[in-house]
This record gives sequence, C-alpha cells and structure tokens, in this order.
Amino acid sequence: MNFIQSQTTPSAVEADLLVVGVSAPATPEELTDTLGAFGAECLAAAGSDFKGNAGQIAVFHTFGRVASKRIALVGVGSGSAGEYRRAFGRAGSEARSRGDQTVALSTGALDANRWQEVVEGWHEGVYRFDKYKAEESRKAAPASVIVLDDVDRSHNKQASAIGMGRALARDLVNEPADALYPETLAQQALALANEQISVEVWDFDRIKAANMGGVEAVGKGSNRDPRFIHLVYRPNGPARKKVGLVGKGVTYDAGGLNLKPGAGLQTMRCDMGGAATVVGVFRALADIQPDVEVHGIIGAVENMLGGSAYKLGDILHISNGKTVEVHNTDAEGRLVLADCLSYASKLELDAMVDIATLTGACLVALGERYSGLFTGDDALANAISQAAADAGEDIWRLPLEARYKEKLKAEWADVKNVGGRAAGSITAALFLSHFVEDTRWAHLDIAGPAFSDKAVDHFSPGGLGAMVSTLTRWATA
Ligand code: BES
Ligand code: MN
Ligand code: ZN
Repeated sequence: MNFIQSQTTPSAVEADLLVVGVSAPATPEELTDTLGAFGAECLAAAGSDFKGNAGQIAVFHTFGRVASKRIALVGVGSGSAGEYRRAFGRAGSEARSRGDQTVALSTGALDANRWQEVVEGWHEGVYRFDKYKAEESRKAAPASVIVLDDVDRSHNKQASAIGMGRALARDLVNEPADALYPETLAQQALALANEQISVEVWDFDRIKAANMGGVEAVGKGSNRDPRFIHLVYRPNGPARKKVGLVGKGVTYDAGGLNLKPGAGLQTMRCDMGGAATVVGVFRALADIQPDVEVHGIIGAVENMLGGSAYKLGDILHISNGKTVEVHNTDAEGRLVLADCLSYASKLELDAMVDIATLTGACLVALGERYSGLFTGDDALANAISQAAADAGEDIWRLPLEARYKEKLKAEWADVKNVGGRAAGSITAALFLSHFVEDTRWAHLDIAGPAFSDKAVDHFSPGGLGAMVSTLTRWATA
C-alpha cells in the first residue's frame, strides 16, 4: 500500500473514495471548512445519529459536486489516538468492501503518534482473507492512498511494518489447519530468514533427542509431526537488550482423547494464534530493524486423537527435568509451552513474554476483547501495559496467585496439567511458571482476542492478529 502526500484540496482530489474525519460533536462549520456547502449538506444527509463518534461512518455518492466519486464521513470522536485508529480502520474496511483503488484521506494535521494510528488502523481495516473465494467475488485492496493534510510521517515505517506483520499473523490463523500444520508453519517462519533473521527448525527426531516430552506427547497423536522453531533477530550493531517471545503453536486443537464438542472444534485452527503473533512480530522487525536482539520460540504441534495419542495418567518428562501427570489431554498448550519456556530460560534473555490461546477460562473471565496478563514482575507488567495502551489493544492483569499452586499438586509426578474449574486461567499460568528459570517472564492469554467468527469493529472475521502491535512496541522499546 502506497501513501502519497499531495497538496490537492479535498474538493479537487480525484479519488474513488474521499475520507473525511469528523470530530464529535459533528458541526456543519467543520465540514464547510474542508468542503464548502457540500460538506454541510453531507452532514445533514448523514442524519442526527451521526455524531462524529469513533466507528461511525456515512458514505455518499458525490454526484460530481467534488472531484472524487464517493465521500465517507468518519467519526474521530474527541481525536484521541485510538479513535483515529478506529475511524480510518473503518474507512479502510469500507474502501476494501467496495474495491476502491484510489482513496484520499482528509485527516486534519496529525502528530506522529496519531498518524501511526491511522496507518495501523488502515491496514487492519483493509485486510480480508478471501484467497479461497471465487475470483469475481474478491475485491482488490486500494492501490494508493492520497494524504491531503500535513501529517508527521516519522513513524511511517514502523506503522506499515506492524500493519504487515499483523496481516501476516491473521493470514496464518485464517489458513485452514489442513494447509497450515507444524511443517508448513515452520516454512512460514523460514520464509522470514534474511541477513538479520536466522531461523532454526527441529524435526520430531531432534525434538525427542532434546527430551521435549511435552511437545512430543501432544504431537504424537497426529499424522503431522511437530516442529520446534527458533527465530532470532540480530541488529547490525550492538544490541541494547535481548528479549524473547514464546508462542503456542497448536495448529489444530481437537482436544486429544478429551475430544472437544463440535462447536469447539469448528474454530480450533486458531490455537496457533500465539505462534502467529510471534511470526507477525518478526515480519515487523525485518522492516523496523531495531537495535535489540529478539528471540522467537514456537512449539508447533497438532493435538489429535489416534492410536498413538497421549493418554490420561501418562507421566511426561519436560526438558527441564520436571515431570507432569496428564489429567486432561485438552490442556495441551501448557505442555508445549513448558518445553519452550525451559528452552528460552537458557538463552540469558533480559525478559520474555509467552503468548497463547491458552484457556477458555480467560475468555469467560475477560470476554473477547481482553488478553489476560500474568506476571509477578510489576515493572514488566507496566512495560507491557504501556505498549498495549499505545497499540490500542486491551489487556488486563490477573493475579499469579501462588497460593493456588496447590491445585496443581500431583500424586505421582511433580505437577499435574490441570488445576480444576476455579481460576482456570490462573492455574494455567502457574503451571507455566514451573518451567521458567532465572528469567523475567510474563504470560499473555489471548484466547479471547486471537480470533472472532464475526466482524469486530473494523476487523473482518477470523484471526485478529492480537498483540502483534503491542509486542512489537514492547520488544523494540
Ligand atoms: N486452546 C484451548 C483454549 C481456548 C478455548 C482457546 C477457547 C480459544 C478459545 C486450550 O487448549 C484448552 O482446551 N483449554 C482447556 C483447559 C482445560 C482442559 C483445563 C479449556 O479452556 O477448557
Ligand atoms: Mn486444548
Ligand atoms: Zn489449545
């Protein structure tokens, strides 16, 4: 997508769609300023429900009153960064639905942060996953975006990089599990390799040789072998810090012998959402080229049920030496992450964050919009929360309550893999904490915002690329 600065006026610009930001409460004067009498008429035609609130949009044919074919009034509310994101995300979605090729943006003068929100929001809104639809029903993304106002474009590169990274994460989640399985997920990671990004992929034999008993157990019930993936981004010069991102890459979660009911099975290709986020962040790092070292660690497995599937009562040996008693094969993500976190703990990272569609309990507690944040490290919690606030992503910290550790006590092993119904997402996080050694660590449960089968705001249904923007900001801060 090409953003082109232009000196043209809103009335004279020749675009398929002219997008005009309108602040709340919408007044005819504001629109008269940009478009003359036609602006005020558009606002009147939008009706009294159109107040200029973020997310509101009103689209009209211009009948030649201005040079563009159509006009979209989009509410920017009180003009906060997040409202700009929603407004121009909405506009991007509108343009994509129509197949508009040239779009002009009248945003008013914007500082660097607000312009970054507009660009990220635009990428979010234009995204579609339509590769499996008939050619004639697909609409192309806009080829060029004309920027009419004086905007500070100094964050442009970062914004576009995050936009592309998030789109990649959404593609990976949306791809059916029959096309995206551990081997092909690894290929997607390998495709990012360049002078600065190295990618190492371990096959099943190598995984077993490394005593990754969690990945092995979950992976062995599938005909698709697991993969362990380690990406490293290294800056050309010295690195300011060294951080890690650990992603749950369950390319399909059938639940194993604890088979999920039908409704649960429908969307469980989304269970590699954490891994998709990690790959998306690396896609962004490739363009941003920050002076930090970033490690991405992904356990890619398919959780299936078959003759060689792992069983209830099995005792697994995780690579850090701890043993786990299996009480539910559907609590598989934590077993995979256990090996990944053990591995990451040996990399001498300054801090690491794991990201996972880990528990239905988190979805119950916080709903579809919030990611759950778990950590005992207040400074790390604050840094991640700040990055999320800047990215306009919702996270909520839940307690990593050590007194609940007893819920995970096992009879015959060091720990069991489920802690009962109460505090299900907390006990999952506590389980993970057993496999973190001497490294600052936080856990993000994205079971809610990783995926939606309905449109959310300006996002089309499917993978939402949750936390790509937040974690790119956190890793590069
Ligand atoms: N992948 C699921 C969690 C999930 C649920 C993600 C809904 C996205 C939407 C996870 O592997 C799982 O099945 N968790 C179980 C844990 C239970 C068996 C302790 C759950 O949440 O029911
Ligand atoms: Mn599961
Ligand atoms: Zn799962």
